[in-house]
Amino acid sequence: MPSFKLLLLPGDGIGPEVMAEVKRLLVWFEKRGVAAFNYDERLVGGSSYDADGVAITDATMELAHASDAVLFGAVGGPKWDGVPYDARPEAGLLRLRKDLGLFANLRPAICYPALADASSLKRELVEGLDIMIVRELTGGVYFGEPKTITDLGGGQKRAIDSQVYDTFEIERIARVAFDLAKKRRNKVTSTEKRNVMKSGLLWNQVVTEVHRREFPEVELEHQLADACGMQLVRRPKQFDVIVCDNLFGDMLSDIAAMLTGSLGMLPSASLGEADPVTGKRKAMYEPVHGSAPDIAGKGIANPLAMIGSLGMALRYSFGLGEAADLLDTATANVLAKGLRTGDIAAPGQATIGTTAMGDAILAELD
Ligand code: NAI
Ligand code: MG
Repeated sequence: MPSFKLLLLPGDGIGPEVMAEVKRLLVWFEKRGVAAFNYDERLVGGSSYDADGVAITDATMELAHASDAVLFGAVGGPKWDGVPYDARPEAGLLRLRKDLGLFANLRPAICYPALADASSLKRELVEGLDIMIVRELTGGVYFGEPKTITDLGGGQKRAIDSQVYDTFEIERIARVAFDLAKKRRNKVTSTEKRNVMKSGLLWNQVVTEVHRREFPEVELEHQLADACGMQLVRRPKQFDVIVCDNLFGDMLSDIAAMLTGSLGMLPSASLGEADPVTGKRKAMYEPVHGSAPDIAGKGIANPLAMIGSLGMALRYSFGLGEAADLLDTATANVLAKGLRTGDIAAPGQATIGTTAMGDAILAELD
């Protein structure tokens, strides 16, 4: 039986509530002989600040570096609004992303048939939707220099943000996208604004070159980012994998997310560079949602985004694609049976809590 080392960082608010369901699943997979999961559990975010005065400790970072994967719940909440900027809960998340070099953010947008009516689009446009957005996460306009606001005098100021991309940054994110497409429906849509941005021109050229050299068997198309946004709401099922820079990825992944219905359903993965010897990547898996202070402590949070994040870890870090498929099927079946937490229930539909949803997934796996 393969064995993996995990770091669990439940965090604040509903983070620990949804992580509790993942722990039960780890036990289930271990009992069935799928793999042995050895995990450490540590504080992060506001709860770490309360205990240690920082959003994540150096010792916890060391554990993160030494793990095969990090599972992250959520951080933040009004309780920590006044803490110093560098110690705010989100600083823990940002340090993890930066120190682990997690440059590739994978956000699947999957529309389960049972939830198609919760989408902002018509059922026939989204039923069975399965898109993977691959967003570059450590470069581009969010980090590029210069990044300034200058006083020009006369009541005028000038703000500058810089979109900066080097060849190697585009190459490595393109490779992640093509690799994923090979295991899916073999199509990559690369998006940028080469008509008005130099970085878009380079992006287009580098993706084209990586395709020609390394992945000629995958279908590649280029779409301008604005057109891609339009196509996402017009005919979303045309897409398989979409690869984009940090800024366009931020927007396009939020658009794709809403096509599927609820925040409580959306997992994500953030991957680092593959080790040249072992091929292993640093990786962190987390739900897209936050700590949901409005429902924290009530036992009603939807655990499916966190559970879906475990599914991504099984698939992308542990090579346990079959176990991941099993988990996805269990989720689809539980939804098809009409079991709903509050966030995904139709008006008047009966709801269940976090633990009951975990019970239902476990029963379905059995
Ligand atoms: P949020 O995602 O926590 O909540 C937005 C709304 O969705 C709330 O009404 C919440 O009850 C609901 N919701 C979210 N996840 C749910 C789930 N699993 N089941 C049922 N309902 C769910 O975003 P919000 O309210 O903007 O932020 C709350 C706190 O979380 C803030 O401190 C924010 O900074 C932090 N945050 C943290 C993130 C992270 O840790 N990655 C991401 C986003 C926000
Ligand atoms: Mg965003």
